[in-house]
Amino acid sequence: MNTITDILATMDYGTAPEDSAIVRDWLKKNEAGFGHFIDGAFTAPGETFEVRSPASGELLASVTQGSDEDVDIAVKAARAGQPGWASLPGHERARYLYAIARHVQQHARFLAVLESLDNGKPIRESRDADVPLVARHFYHHAGWAEIMEDELPGTTPHGVCGQIIPWNFPLLMLAWKVAPALAAGNTVVLKPAEYTPLTALAFAEIAAEVGLPKGVLNIVTGDGRTGAAIVAHDGLDKIAFTGSTEVGRRIRRETAGTGKSLTLELGGKSPFVVFADADLDAAVEGVADAIWFNAGQVCCAGARVLVAESVAKRFEDLLEKRMRQLRVGDPLDKNTDMGAIVHPVQLERIRGLVEKGVAEGAELVQGTAPEGCFFPPTIAMKVEPASTLATEEIFGPVATVTTFRTPEDAVALANNTRYGLAASIWSENVNLCLDIAAQVKAGVVWVNCTNVFDAGAGFGGYRESGFGREGGREGMMAYLAHPKPKARKPEASPAVPVGQPGEALPGAGAWIDRTAKFYIGGKQARPDSGYSYPVQGASGPVGLAGLGNRKDIRNAVEAAHKAKGWGKATGHNRAQVLYYLAENLSARAGEFAERLVSFGAGKSAAQAEVDTAIRRTFWYAAQADKFDGAVHQTKSAHVTLAMHEPLGVIGIACPTAQPLLGFVSLVLPAIAMGNAVVAIPSQSHPLAATDLYQVFDTSDLPGGVVNIVAGERDAMARTLAEHDDVAGIWYFGTKDGGRMIEEASAGNLKQSWVEDGAARDWLSKDGQGRGFLHRATQIKNIWVPYGE
Ligand code: NAI
Repeated sequence: MNTITDILATMDYGTAPEDSAIVRDWLKKNEAGFGHFIDGAFTAPGETFEVRSPASGELLASVTQGSDEDVDIAVKAARAGQPGWASLPGHERARYLYAIARHVQQHARFLAVLESLDNGKPIRESRDADVPLVARHFYHHAGWAEIMEDELPGTTPHGVCGQIIPWNFPLLMLAWKVAPALAAGNTVVLKPAEYTPLTALAFAEIAAEVGLPKGVLNIVTGDGRTGAAIVAHDGLDKIAFTGSTEVGRRIRRETAGTGKSLTLELGGKSPFVVFADADLDAAVEGVADAIWFNAGQVCCAGARVLVAESVAKRFEDLLEKRMRQLRVGDPLDKNTDMGAIVHPVQLERIRGLVEKGVAEGAELVQGTAPEGCFFPPTIAMKVEPASTLATEEIFGPVATVTTFRTPEDAVALANNTRYGLAASIWSENVNLCLDIAAQVKAGVVWVNCTNVFDAGAGFGGYRESGFGREGGREGMMAYLAHPKPKARKPEASPAVPVGQPGEALPGAGAWIDRTAKFYIGGKQARPDSGYSYPVQGASGPVGLAGLGNRKDIRNAVEAAHKAKGWGKATGHNRAQVLYYLAENLSARAGEFAERLVSFGAGKSAAQAEVDTAIRRTFWYAAQADKFDGAVHQTKSAHVTLAMHEPLGVIGIACPTAQPLLGFVSLVLPAIAMGNAVVAIPSQSHPLAATDLYQVFDTSDLPGGVVNIVAGERDAMARTLAEHDDVAGIWYFGTKDGGRMIEEASAGNLKQSWVEDGAARDWLSKDGQGRGFLHRATQIKNIWVPYGE
């Protein structure tokens, strides 16, 4: 006889379909096809493509494939609308954003149903997560428009922004991009993904409904070709992209040297770490949310479950049991946990990767899924850390499970990825969680929770997950420009150093009879080439500098990596070293001034350069323990810590002019924030910087924190830009050099800071400031829940 428990466990669910009549009426009304939304109105449909429901295959709409000309018209409309929009008082812009938020709420059910039809995600998610977050984003950013003048003084909008978004959270990604851009006074041309353009078009109707001024929001539909036309358009000031790392990399290359500001939110392969003392039931629920939410089509999906060996068996049993309860099917059924995969192409991609994983030895535990564009929830066991399933972004409902023994193992496994978007850490010991949170390389860390988002906190990645943040103050900064430094005469290409063998300058006096060596790992090092080059002074050569090559740069990067302890030192410790450095520099001020005079500087200019370098050293010493992060006001019951973290190893190519101050002004903020540096000093006058290593040696600066390699700047800067173990590159040189650096940095998507023409006056206030510290850090948002 069946017990009540048996009946409850085996009982079938009836269907609970969401009514889609209003959405279907809207689709019917537009069955002739959608045009673009440009300059406040819809255009007539052009050449169209079909948009189908992934769950049923039914045709939903025909949507226009945007041409180059369409993009051009949209950019011109956005350009025309931008000055008026930016000059509105913040309060006026706020009212529009606020109205959008209200209208999104009024149309919430319509938008949720349309999103579920178009994307295949369960109505529970679109209704309870996507759409409420969209409204929250517009409310939050209405607030930023209101208070921007007071809170972000001196900043200006970039101008016109091109925005390209993916299909996994179509309306939410639109909100993440459009809300801050408009709040800041930019206008936009946005392209939704070709699989899911419908909520963007519905949103355009909302924009018209609230009377958003013409040209402020332009929506052009189409596939990657339309996206490429946006990226290539020279009338845009900024590109913001969310999507695959492959396309992100291409966009980095294509925007190189154009001066367009760029933010990229790319892929991930995020770890989900479960320690032995975690609340296992909660952690299992966390995995369900991390990898089966939106069928795993989430850039920050917790796809790699790492579980402590001692609880692995129990955890896996619980996880399998939970997985088998998931109901996969009709997205419009309110009981559905997991809907359809967005498109048959993506389904094939997931299948292909999983088959490859199985061929590599993975064992699968799978739930069930209906026929059609669905994939069952899947757990993959026996997955080697280097295998396909553990390394490739699957973008489907597939989690790998791997065990670890010690917290050190867990961190090593967690960081064993080229991505760095998110991580989730589970333990009842909050000390352990925060310790691990500091060590994982990810832009977002969730402690005892996962997939928590809010407009008030930044979201974005480290490493190949891209750069820039969306949400909160950090996100606003991505849509604002700081005043440009006062332009001086752009730097000309410095003379190519002509190498000569040996270390002596023929016929020269005694003090210049030695080659200034490199400084690598805290020691003097001879150039690998064995060559050196003469450094010209006001009247002939004044010394020799080693001529560096790729090998020297690689050695320097290796040495910089070994100086990791510097990043973990307290701000106070770093401050002490910098104060000591300032003192020692003061003690030798005369010598440094003399050196500058020997290069041809006037006496007072040389003195001013040295004095400013000393003052600047004190300033960054003072900042070392004061450049605080923040605690964000997020909506849910979390303490959300925005921590400033060093990038790691930064390559710095210094300008030729002001050879001491240029070097000091760039290297100091980087090391004050805990980075290690490989610096290429002024190509024409490197000796001003190489003299500094004696000061470093006497100032307790640990070996490897600053490494100096002299020689041909652009060739060595390229090696740094291409190096996978360099996290950031700062280049102050020629315009052509800047383009080359941005292109070369696309490999591991390192953050680049390129100043065309290197025309900054380092003596002025442009030579120092918090902006340098922002460049030297990245923000990690750590979410810690509170309450029972
Ligand atoms: P994708 O990167 O090609 O598409 C994202 C957006 O970029 C779409 O709007 C697309 O039309 C546009 N696009 C494509 N090529 C472009 C180009 N050359 N220039 C400018 N825009 C271009 O991603 P796709 O092919 O849809 O998905 C492939 C894989 O990418 C997924 O399996 C997943 O691994 C990853 N992905 C990651 C996302 C994330 O949020 N991080 C979102 C979507 C995909």
